[in-house]
Amino acid sequence: MHKRIFLNTLAVAVLGAGVATGALAQDKFKIGLILPMSGQQASTGRQIEAAVRLFMAQNGDTVAGKKVEVIIKDDAATPDVSRRFAQELVVNEKVNVLAGFGVTPAALAAAPIATQSKTPLVVMAAATSSITEASPYIVRTSFTLPQASVALADWAPKNGLKKVVTLVSDYGPGIDAEKFFKDRLLFNGGQIADSLRVPLRNPDFAPFLQKVRDIKPDALFVFVPSGAGAAVMKQFLERGMDKAGIKLIGTGDVTDDDQLNDMGDGALGVVTSHHYSAYHPSATNKKFVDAFQKANKGMRPNFMAVGGYDGMRVIYEALKATKGQGGGDALLAAMKGQIFESPRGPMFIDAQTRDVVHNIYLRKVERKDGQLHNVEFDVIKDVKDPGKAK
Ligand code: DHB
Repeated sequence: MHKRIFLNTLAVAVLGAGVATGALAQDKFKIGLILPMSGQQASTGRQIEAAVRLFMAQNGDTVAGKKVEVIIKDDAATPDVSRRFAQELVVNEKVNVLAGFGVTPAALAAAPIATQSKTPLVVMAAATSSITEASPYIVRTSFTLPQASVALADWAPKNGLKKVVTLVSDYGPGIDAEKFFKDRLLFNGGQIADSLRVPLRNPDFAPFLQKVRDIKPDALFVFVPSGAGAAVMKQFLERGMDKAGIKLIGTGDVTDDDQLNDMGDGALGVVTSHHYSAYHPSATNKKFVDAFQKANKGMRPNFMAVGGYDGMRVIYEALKATKGQGGGDALLAAMKGQIFESPRGPMFIDAQTRDVVHNIYLRKVERKDGQLHNVEFDVIKDVKDPGKAK
């Protein structure tokens, strides 16, 4: 009985507090940012958080009369946790937008919550093609693996790399990379000598690389998620695979700007294809990189940072366009079709697919001003996700 009375009192107290913050909440615009801040994918969370903070420092935290509040939740790239946080952020915090999502399984786990609650969900990192099809409320500002892989499969056979082994992390983006690289290479008259898949969690690349060495292809095509590239590079060099005449190529996730400068001269000459290089020669990018490094003890922004920065821009512009009065559907409508100059180059959000359309660059690792960089040498303009053309 006592307990019952206590609970009732507590309920009233909580309700009272709810009313008080309710008035304030109307003047707030809340973004629930679900990111891996710990665990194997932590560099993704660190990069995106830094980019989000930079964007807000540069553009203010009041937009269309609303105070923008970002609530960060660390899901450690664990989908059950991502889903629970998405639910809590929507139900308890009443966030206006969900954003972040460092890996594909996290984005897929949260998708039904976006749909049920009609909350726009901005994918800033994850890159499996099918993610945008998991909910009509998903908008993507990162990239897709089919976008990144096809360009390299056009480049490789023209540059003497006809016989290739693929090595990918065994989950969504890796399977996309493997399929789209392979289909295009075969179309171009190349040959896939073997397709290897390594586990996402605690991968040991050694036995796979030994196998590649035995096959001795012209090139090894690699996709691993952000943060794993340095380990691949190290083991590739330790096994003397470059000296055995095997070229390392891959999507730009392998020569990740977060790690590249510490990979050493062995990385020189590695060719990758991707949508973003910190060395991209545009005024917009130089400004972005300088400001990012200044605000983060010299940390170089990578493609995850740019996905977070552009994601904030898409959210801010939607908030402005709806004059701070829009619900989920109005915000979503205002996100579709946005077109602007990103640090990566021109980009737009395809209104039909809600996916990003941008340039894909071919890049080679070179030393510039004493630092290792992905230096762009060719561009394929306005690339839509080839994974959508099913
Ligand atoms: C994904 C994660 C990454 O770190 C990356 O570089 C590409 C894709 C993903 O899980 O979708």
